[in-house]
Amino acid sequence: MRQSGVSALDNDKALSSDDIADVTAYYAGVNASFLPLAPADPTLVKHGEELAKVGSAARGIQSCDNCHGPGGVGEPPAIPYLAGQYEHYIAFELQMWQRGLRKSSPEEIAAVAAYYQQVCMHAESGGSSQ
Ligand code: HEC
Repeated sequence: MRQSGVSALDNDKALSSDDIADVTAYYAGVNASFLPLAPADPTLVKHGEELAKVGSAARGIQSCDNCHGPGGVGEPPAIPYLAGQYEHYIAFELQMWQRGLRKSSPEEIAAVAAYYQQVCMHAESGGSSQ
């Protein structure tokens, strides 16, 4: 298991494996409605879209959609979806553990995070997918 996200729980009262299984099962079944998001900077989103769909040969960055699927829809259960995921969360994950992105700049991380946040995989919530 990854350690990066658990610091808030990192003490002797940490979740047991049973707790983890229970809370995971709970969230998997929740059908939440999504709160509206502030629109991102279009220039950032455009660059992020390029990184997400094409990557950057010059910078040695593989397209995210290669693994995360077209539009970042994911492939359950192994590959998490990115579409519609919060910008801050994506940026945090990438900064913490920089998978395949060791050479990426803060601007590239911000761009790809901004792009995926505005991709809408939940058609009923009415977001745009530019
Ligand atoms: C070679 C395949 C591959 C590529 C390319 C790839 N990822 Fe991933 N990514 C994964 C896998 C597998 C996981 C889940 C397993 C894990 O967390 O170790 C993951 C997890 C993530 C997560 C954590 C999601 C979560 O909900 O925990 C984020 C965020 C992420 N990737 C973003 C990106 C972005 C942005 C790009 C493109 C710049 C990218 N990934 C490119 C394979 C890939």
